[in-house]
Amino acid sequence: MKRNIVPVIALVTLAVPVLFLAAPNRKYVGASACKLCHKSEMQGRQYVIWEESLHAKAFLNLRTDKAREIGAAAGVSDPVSNVQCLGCHAPLADKAPELRDEGVTCEVCHGPGSAYKKLSVMQDREKAVQNGLVLYDADPGMIEAHCLKCHQNPHGNPYDFRAAWERIKHPVPPK
Ligand code: HEC
Ligand code: HEC
Ligand code: HEC
Ligand code: HEC
Repeated sequence: MKRNIVPVIALVTLAVPVLFLAAPNRKYVGASACKLCHKSEMQGRQYVIWEESLHAKAFLNLRTDKAREIGAAAGVSDPVSNVQCLGCHAPLADKAPELRDEGVTCEVCHGPGSAYKKLSVMQDREKAVQNGLVLYDADPGMIEAHCLKCHQNPHGNPYDFRAAWERIKHPVPPK
């Protein structure tokens, strides 16, 4: 028994610095924090577009009769607490339980915002990325790859990337 303990401890002490490098204290702050600066017409109404999309309701919709039906067919009795359903419908349920109800929220696609949400950081694209903002270089291939993490016909419905992106895209208007 005792001989096994040493390597486990060595692994743990090695793992800690690596974890800190990967995510230096970044926290999820929720869509209401982004709303402050991303809701006006001039800025492109990103918050409004998101709030009106099904992404904002993805968790809440796990409470519907339709969800229970889909769950039952998959042998899932309680979709609201099932890790598989939550994985796509409320991906932050585990890491930031207080944001579970926001479903597929801004930070699911743009990374945890605590370090980049400051105005002085946000105004500098490079700085924002260094502080955890996830962007996709306006590259349809990169964007589609991200969408497909959840949209690979999970419920057998066809998925048209171009049409889907048209429905939820939220650009900053040209100045
Ligand atoms: C204090 C105001 C403020 C807050 C809070 C804020 N942003 Fe921003 N954000 C800005 C400004 C200003 C820009 C630059 C927009 C421009 O190009 O005119 C920006 C740009 C962005 C961009 C585009 C970057 C690029 O260069 O393409 C993304 C994505 C973004 N914000 C996401 C978020 C998310 C997600 C949150 C919440 C976690 C958030 N922002 C919170 C002010 C803010
Ligand atoms: C791989 C990601 C993924 C998983 C896992 C997943 N969903 Fe979904 N779900 C989606 C996507 C994407 C949509 C919207 C597009 C579509 O229907 O394909 C959706 C749509 C739905 C809808 C709305 C469909 C409608 O016709 O009204 C319900 C309800 C739903 N899912 C319930 C569930 C339940 C319950 C589970 C767990 C048993 C689950 N989902 C697991 C990604 C997922
Ligand atoms: C389903 C994923 C997803 C969600 C949810 C999402 N975004 Fe985005 N957002 C994207 C993608 C993809 C782009 C394109 C960025 C690129 O091409 O680099 C983008 C672009 C942006 C831009 C920059 C637009 C431009 O003209 O460059 C801003 C600002 C932004 N998002 C803010 C937000 C805010 C605020 C929220 C929540 C209220 C949000 N996003 C929710 C995926 C998402
Ligand atoms: C973390 C998982 C996830 C990611 C990533 C994701 N989605 Fe979704 N999306 C969902 C879920 C779940 C739903 C269904 C919500 C519901 O109906 O309750 C959905 C719904 C949608 C809908 C509404 C479908 C309809 O029939 O009205 C569109 C459009 C959409 N997503 C586009 C996109 C695009 C474009 C991207 C990539 C930029 C993307 N999504 C990335 C999980 C995701």
